[in-house]
Formats: sequence, C-alpha cells, structure tokens
Amino acid sequence: MNDSAIRVRGLRKTYGSTTAVAGLDLDVRRGETLAVLGPNGAGKSTTVQILSAQLPRDGGAVTVLGTDPAGADRRFRSRLGIVSQTANDLLELTVAEVVRHFAAYYPRPRDPGRVLDEVGLAGQAKQKLRQLSGGQRRRVDVALGVVGNPELLFLDEPTTGFDPEARRRFWDLIRSLAADGTTILLTTHYLDEAEALADRIAVIAAGRIRASGTVADLVDDREVTVAWRDGAKTTDTPTALIAELSAAHGGEIPGLTVTRPSLEDAYLRLTGQETAA
Ligand SMILES: Nc1ncnc2c1ncn2[C@@H]1O[C@H](COP(=O)(O)OP(=O)(O)OP(=O)(O)O)[C@@H](O)[C@H]1O
Ligand SMILES: [Mg+2]
Repeated sequence: MNDSAIRVRGLRKTYGSTTAVAGLDLDVRRGETLAVLGPNGAGKSTTVQILSAQLPRDGGAVTVLGTDPAGADRRFRSRLGIVSQTANDLLELTVAEVVRHFAAYYPRPRDPGRVLDEVGLAGQAKQKLRQLSGGQRRRVDVALGVVGNPELLFLDEPTTGFDPEARRRFWDLIRSLAADGTTILLTTHYLDEAEALADRIAVIAAGRIRASGTVADLVDDREVTVAWRDGAKTTDTPTALIAELSAAHGGEIPGLTVTRPSLEDAYLRLTGQETAA
C-alpha cells in the first residue's frame, strides 16, 4: 500500500437544494494529523461522515485506507475510530459498560480501563451516561472513538464543552496516538487546538477547500504590524522600520509593539469573514 490514508477528488454532496460539499479535494498521508477548519455549515461534518462510511456521497472519488468507503464492510469500519458531532443514545448504561461494550466490536481494542483514565473518566466509571455533565458525556464520545485502537481516527469537534484541563488531557491523548502512528482527521473551531495538534490545516468554506498547508504556509508573514505611541505601520521588514523609529526617537520607542499575523487572521481572510480591524 502507498502512504496515502485519505484521497478525495471532486467530492459532492447535496441535501435537497442545499449543496453541502461542492467539489472538494483532500489528501491525508498515513500518520499525519490534519485539522479541518471552516465556518458553521461549511461542510466539515458532511465530509467526515462520507469519509467514515456513515453517509453516501453524490459524486467524486474517495479512497480511505485503500478502500472506497461507499462499499465499506465491517472489517473496514473496525479500522476507523469516529467521534461524531451527534450525541449518543445509550443513556441508561454506565460509563464503564458502554466503553467495554464498544471495545468488544474491535479485533485489537485498547484496554477500556486505561482509556477511561486517559479521558479523565476513571472517577465516573459507574455513573450512568444520563447522569453526566455535557463535557463528561463528550469525554465518553472520545473514549468510544479511541477504544478500538484505530488506524484512522475522525474527530468532529471533539473538545466542544471541555474545560481547559480536559482539553489539555485530550491534546496529550491525541499526541500520543499520533506518535504511535495513528492518522487523525480533526475538525475544530478552536484555532489554538489546530495549531497545537495538526501537522497540516485545511480551511474549508461553502463546501470547498480554500487553502491547506502548515500554519506557516497559511499565514502571510510579510504583513507584520509595528505600532508605537504615535502611529502604526504594516511592513515586511519590521527590523529596519524599528531601527528607523529608534533613530528618530533617539533610542527607546514609546509604546512599541510588533504583531505578526496569526492563524486567525489567515482563517478570516480565507473564509471571507474578515472584519475591519
Ligand atoms: N441531514 C441534513 N439534511 C439537510 N441539510 C443538511 C444535513 N446535514 C447538513 N446539512 C446542510 O449541509 C451544509 C453543511 O453542513 P455540515 O454539517 O457539513 O457543516 P459543518 O461544517 O459541519 O458545520 P458546523 O461547524 O456547524 O458543525 C449546511 O448547509 C447544512 O445545513
Ligand atoms: Mg459540523
């Protein structure tokens, strides 16, 4: 097999008169972590559902782990882990029961007790899902996504509702899975999460990829803003500008700040949501 985990060309999906995915191309290498960013309704969940064999497509070519998910069998599904955006409905089972139950579906599951530890639910193992807080329920979703020891993990907004400590713990878990060679496709609205976890980022809007690459690829580093008490300027040679200003001020520049463009600036530009700063 080659080193491609996901290859998508011209993917299309419509719901009635709504076009959710409008000719999307995407490549993910084996072992890579890709973050997909995009506004509400951009087509992220639809794409994840198609790639993970949960939803049929209307057009385009898709290969996932060497297989077309449209004809996926149980063996193919057992190689995937999925944390989707939809809530689960096993509310009367306990946390430990549901994780053990899911582990049994997979040929080489991770140890359910260890997984509960990793997602910070060891203390809630005997509680019913119904009795959990929103963030705790989301941790169960994550536990179910990783318990099968998947080759390829789909995470659709996995940390929505997590407190800061749970989010850090989740990041550690994802990094250790990535270090073990797991391929990960993650959607998120948290740009810091994308920066912390992803090897590459794809920005999607209106069902199409607008740009993809590393953070450095996406951010236009030529627009550095130098601001001081009496003014501000955007430049691609900030050091030279600061030297000039320093000479003009006879040394210290009052109120000097230097700001490089952020991933957020790039995101807003790429999705056409730029606001006048
Ligand atoms: N089951 C469905 N029936 C009809 N329309 C749908 C359905 N699921 C999604 N859509 C529409 O398809 C488009 C893409 O939705 P999708 O859920 O893929 O967006 P998303 O990028 O995941 O957004 P979010 O960030 O809000 O999760 C939206 O216009 C949405 O209204
Ligand atoms: Mg979504």
